[in-house]
Amino acid sequence: MKLCRRAAELAEYRGTVGFVPTMGALHEGHLSLVKACREACDTTVVSIFVNPTQFNDPTDLKNYPRTEAEDLALLEAAGVDFVFAPSVEEIYPTPDTRVFDFGGLDRVMEGEHRPGHFNGVGQVVSRLFEIVRPNKAFFGEKDFQQLAIIRYMTAQLGLPIEIVGCPIVRDTDGLARSSRNTLLSPEHRAAAPHIYAVLSEAAKSLRGTVPVDDAKRIIAERIDANPLLKTEYVEIAEADTLRPATDWAKTPGTLRCFVAVHAGPIRLIDNIAF
Ligand code: PAF
Repeated sequence: MKLCRRAAELAEYRGTVGFVPTMGALHEGHLSLVKACREACDTTVVSIFVNPTQFNDPTDLKNYPRTEAEDLALLEAAGVDFVFAPSVEEIYPTPDTRVFDFGGLDRVMEGEHRPGHFNGVGQVVSRLFEIVRPNKAFFGEKDFQQLAIIRYMTAQLGLPIEIVGCPIVRDTDGLARSSRNTLLSPEHRAAAPHIYAVLSEAAKSLRGTVPVDDAKRIIAERIDANPLLKTEYVEIAEADTLRPATDWAKTPGTLRCFVAVHAGPIRLIDNIAF
């Protein structure tokens, strides 16, 4: 495995190139992306870069877990060929002032609640795509809205990169794997699986039985029944356009339910097919 700090060091690729962008603090979710990438491509490149432009909350950026030595050991064991772990100056030699138009995909849910977040994601992912020049790039469905936005951006920029979405990886108790889980207190960690328990029960019993708005309210009430959790939003939207569903019968596409929940100071997101 070759560790590269500079863009120019990424050279001598073999065959098709797969790319897994990360912000480090790696877990099973990331490793599932690496596995999918290795199965589909001859060369696997993973980036580790905590991108400052996508954090709308400076405390979140400061506290974001950074575990580079452990990450490198995991990636070596996983059979990765190149790790790109650049400095902020390497990615942004001058401030990135580009403003993206994501066709409205960024106006709901995470985009609405974290202003500027997806513009920062667009900046870093387009820059990483330019540097790494992959044939395929792998993203987890836990960040379902991010995946939709990256697909849109890649098509809009006309980049010849196939965007591959990979299923959410969960702990045995149902909590979606996230780098932020390590920041949860033991009490909040114990409470957090309640989110998926509510979502999976709702996916079985609520679709079509009550109006969409009632389903969203009921899901929020059920999550908030745990005193350690506080729902920020519940949305039920079309999986491809992310347009909020208003009426089960009038919604043609596959639906997904999306939530953001505060577990003490840590904000968790999750989603499920609905
Ligand atoms: O999903 C993430 O970890 C980040 O948003 C990404 C795609 C690596 C861009 O910084």
